[in-house]
Amino acid sequence: MSHNTFGHLFRVTTWGESHGPSIGAVVDGCPPRIPISEADIQADLDRRRPGQSRFTTQRREPDAVKILSGVFADESGQLLTTGTPISLLIENLDQRSKDYGEIRESYRPGHADMTYQAKYGIRDWRGSGRASARETASRVAAGAIARKIVPGVRVRGALVQIGALAIDRTNWNWDEVGNNPFFSPDAAIVDRWADYLDGIRKRGSSIGAVIEVVAEGVPAGLGAPIYGKLDQDIASAFMSINAVKGVEIGAGMGAALLTGEENADEMRIGPDGEPAFLSNHAGGILGGISTGQPIVARFAVKPTSSILIPRKSVNQRGEEIDVSTKGRHDPCVGIRAVPIGEAMLAIVLADHYLRHRGQVG
Ligand SMILES: Cc1cc2nc3c(=O)[nH]c(=O)nc-3n(C[C@H](O)[C@H](O)[C@H](O)COP(=O)(O)O)c2cc1C
Repeated sequence: MSHNTFGHLFRVTTWGESHGPSIGAVVDGCPPRIPISEADIQADLDRRRPGQSRFTTQRREPDAVKILSGVFADESGQLLTTGTPISLLIENLDQRSKDYGEIRESYRPGHADMTYQAKYGIRDWRGSGRASARETASRVAAGAIARKIVPGVRVRGALVQIGALAIDRTNWNWDEVGNNPFFSPDAAIVDRWADYLDGIRKRGSSIGAVIEVVAEGVPAGLGAPIYGKLDQDIASAFMSINAVKGVEIGAGMGAALLTGEENADEMRIGPDGEPAFLSNHAGGILGGISTGQPIVARFAVKPTSSILIPRKSVNQRGEEIDVSTKGRHDPCVGIRAVPIGEAMLAIVLADHYLRHRGQVG
């Protein structure tokens, strides 16, 4: 495989399989003299870590990150980036390959077994190998570094829908996101989601979800038309996350329901003499370039495909079979996808910030 790198100037390469000894990332192109520590990265990894509630997989991974290169301590002992490649390592400690023995030759419907086999003629069936969302821990680690690149930018995400149960947006409170196991900004929906997901889990089923990620403090001007548009790269970043089937920026698919006068983000002169928008249907991007408004993007994840309920499939020997996946799985992958979405948006913004600086100084 030769497509394991994302970004142009801030380049993230990830490596490793779900049940190999370790996974990791190499971040190349990070500017020098940026303070960074393992604790900063760990804080983000801890939010994505499995096994933190009954609503996520019970795989127990500490996900402890080690920085192997690219940093050096200043006189005070603070680690600073040196401008050289930053290598990050996360050990896999709770692999249970035998859980996957039964599906060694089977193609799980909705998973990548069939396509990896068709493409490479060989695949690491232990926990889905490279197709496993275990890989996304490496992205979250790299994203923690990306968050430090654009001055004043804050990237936050939240789960806004599980199945047909959407949050009430009038209840949106960012302070609630860390207070419940779902990253919900709406405290009122938490108990309903818990009951609903308990039912899904007990039936051996799974369900999809929608995640919203918002970046505030993004300066106007990031994004490079025509083929390096900011919204284009955000869509690519989100679509690269496992199980993602839809991406929206701003009003997204809902824009199709609006009239021109409803959709137009009107402008007035703000207190600082700069254009001020009266709404944000554009999601902070016009013509592929950031407007200075918050960037608002959403993605939909499909229901976890490894479920206990048997589904019709085939195996590598060309036989028709029924597949039921035992082992440890997320009943709704959308929950742990929140920090992953944040990381990918932070990586896109870091890359575009450096690309913008490279072109316009
Ligand atoms: C955080 C997260 C956890 C996931 N956990 C599982 C899982 O336990 N079982 C599963 O079948 N798929 C899981 N997935 C999804 C698969 O990795 C994904 O469906 C598979 O690689 C096929 O790729 P595609 O769905 O993008 O086409 C997870 C995805 C994410 C984002």
